[in-house]
Parts: sequence; C-alpha cells; structure tokens
Amino acid sequence: MTEIIPSILVKTKEELLEKISAVEQLVERVHLDIADGIFVPNMTIAGFSEIETIETTLKFRVHLMVSKPENHILRWLNTLADSFTFHIESTNQPIVVIEKLREAEKEIGLALNPRTPLSAIEPFINEIDFVHFMTVEPGFYGGEFMEEVLDKMSDFHYFYPDKPIVADGGVTPENAPKLVQAGANTLIVGSYIFKNGNPAKALEELRKSISE
Ligand code: DX5
Ligand code: ZN
Repeated sequence: MTEIIPSILVKTKEELLEKISAVEQLVERVHLDIADGIFVPNMTIAGFSEIETIETTLKFRVHLMVSKPENHILRWLNTLADSFTFHIESTNQPIVVIEKLREAEKEIGLALNPRTPLSAIEPFINEIDFVHFMTVEPGFYGGEFMEEVLDKMSDFHYFYPDKPIVADGGVTPENAPKLVQAGANTLIVGSYIFKNGNPAKALEELRKSISE
C-alpha cells in the first residue's frame, strides 16, 4: 500500500507546532524538510533541537537539504527521528553519511534532484533503504511538478523492483496515480495538504486518487 506523508517545511518552531497539530490525528509520521541556505536557496529551522522539545505521537522522517550532511548528521543521531534522507549532490562522502546512519540504526534514504541521472546513485543502492526522487527542484513548498522524473523513476523501478521509492514534491491527486504507476511506495505532500485549510479532506482525496 502506498503511504502518503505530510511534508513540513518551516522557519519557526511555532509553525512547526501548528503543522504538527494539523496532521497529528491523521497520520503516523511526517516528513521534516531541513534546508541550510547553501545546498538550496532557502533556510528552515535547524530541526534537531526543536523536535527534542515537543511532545507528539508523530514519527519524524528527516529530509536533509543541506550541504555536506556528514557535518550535520551527528547532531541528529540521538533524536527521535528514525529515518533520514540526504542528497547525492550534497556530498563527496556519501559512504561516511551512510555508515554513521547505519551504526545508529537509522533508516537511510538517498535523494536525487530532478536532473540528476540514476548513474549518480547506482554505486550506493545496496547500502541504502530507499531512493528519494525529487519531483520538484528542492528548497520550497509549491515547486512545479516535473513530469519527466516519472520516466527516471520507472526505469529505476524496472531494474530495482524491490528497492522502495519515495516521491517528493508537487504531488496532487492528479499526478499521484502516475507516481504509483511508476513505482513510488511513498508520496511526500506539502502544499496540497497544508494550503487549503483542510488536511483531512486533502489526505482523503489523495488516498482516493490512488485506491484500487
Ligand atoms: C521540497 C521539499 C518537499 C516539499 C513538498 O524542497 O523537499 O518535501 O516540502 O512540498 P510540495 O508538496 O508543496 O511540493
Ligand atoms: Zn522534502
């Protein structure tokens, strides 16, 4: 079954709390976007300190849109977050990041931007738990869905049918079925869930679009 996970991209702890309470009753986990203003032209909360001080039943999957994640990851390893994605474009030392996450028994995702070829992640596929396909340029809510990523995803799914696929960015009930068709197991959704003021309804519409 395809899981739909709300995406939280915020600049303050207050916004984080608002978004958490908007979806806490509706899902088991959220995707927390972390941006450093270097790897992407936007900056969010640091995240690792904020999530330690809040009480919630939600699980956090962290998406590090940061340069040199090897310099960030240690701060996260003792947090409740149990799943991490970092970008292949962001580091010369993917193996170092993978090893640190593995030692801490965290789930490991490797992300690739819409224009990054599959060949960039291929050497690491056996070392990671899932591949995280960006379907927008990373950094912001509301990016334009890039239809051409569907072919890249399908190709990957053909060669690695057992490797879980996460699709992140610009997901709507209209394109969700195409992503599932291309092999996505998890859909990360920001704007569609949070922008219309009714997350329960948005989630319902998304689920309905991919049911059957
Ligand atoms: C993009 C982020 C996404 C984003 C999704 O930089 O990694 O997770 O929050 O939001 P929408 O659905 O608005 O593209
Ligand atoms: Zn994300």
